[in-house]
This record gives sequence, C-alpha cells and structure tokens, in this order.
Amino acid sequence: MQAPTVDLVEISPLLEQAHGESDLIPVLQKVQDHYGYIPPEAVEPIARSVKVFPSKVQGVITFYSQFYTEPRGRNIVTVCRGTACHVRGGRGVLRVVQKALNLKDGETSPDYQFTLETVACLGACALAPVMVVNGKVYGRMNPKRIENVLAMYQKQES
Ligand code: FES
Repeated sequence: MQAPTVDLVEISPLLEQAHGESDLIPVLQKVQDHYGYIPPEAVEPIARSVKVFPSKVQGVITFYSQFYTEPRGRNIVTVCRGTACHVRGGRGVLRVVQKALNLKDGETSPDYQFTLETVACLGACALAPVMVVNGKVYGRMNPKRIENVLAMYQKQES
C-alpha cells in the first residue's frame, strides 16, 4: 500500500499562526499531530513560517526522538522492555507480538495498519508484563490476551 498522501494546504492555517523561532517546536508538534509524522516536504514551509533555515528545522527534528520522519501505523503497539516486565515474561510478550504482526521493533506494516515499538518502562509496572496500543494500557499480558487485544485493533480496520 502507498504511503498516505501529504497535502500541505491542510497545515497552512497552523503555519500562519507561527511568529518566530520560539514557535518551532509547537509547530512541529502540531504538524506531527496532523499527519502522524513530519513529512520531508513540510520542512521548508515550516522553516519559512518560523523564520529559520530549513537546516535548523531538520536539526530539531533529528534531535528530539518524539518527532518521526516517516509515516507510522494507524495503531501504535508499544511493548515494555523494562525490568519489572522483563522478570514477568516481557520478552515473551514481545516475541508473540512480533510474530502476530510480522514486525520487528521500530517497524511499520506495509499497509500502515500497525507500528511496533518498545520502551524502557510504561509506568505501569504493577500490571507487568505490559503493552500499550494507541495509548491504552493492557496489563498482565499472556499469549491469549495479546491475541485478543491485537484482534480488536485488526477488526476496527476491516
Ligand atoms: S517495567 Fe514495564 S511498565 Fe514498568
């Protein structure tokens, strides 16, 4: 499947609200909220709107890990690699999710349905092992629960 198309006209109202360099990070956040990532073709218009060189915009995007430069899946699956989860079988959770989605850590499915990520701790250690889908926390995961949770998101797409 093709990457989602980018229509820069959609972000012109928010770029027009920018006044200067101090607006750079808020503008990048809004652009990412809109597209799910920062499309490369948006870098120049963003630079113009906050009155800096495109290289400065690119530098900020590269510096902050929360900015993405490639399209991500409509569903973001995050599996915890933290210690509490690890001792309760977190590695097995990751293995099952990887197999079910046919993705490795950091990958997005070709149909942009899922992106798989891992993090050091999701802040819900009491529920270990934990995974999060689109911001919703699922605790005490086991292979059956993983299958059920992923099936809910797969169903929503069809
Ligand atoms: S270690 Fe997994 S939620 Fe904290």
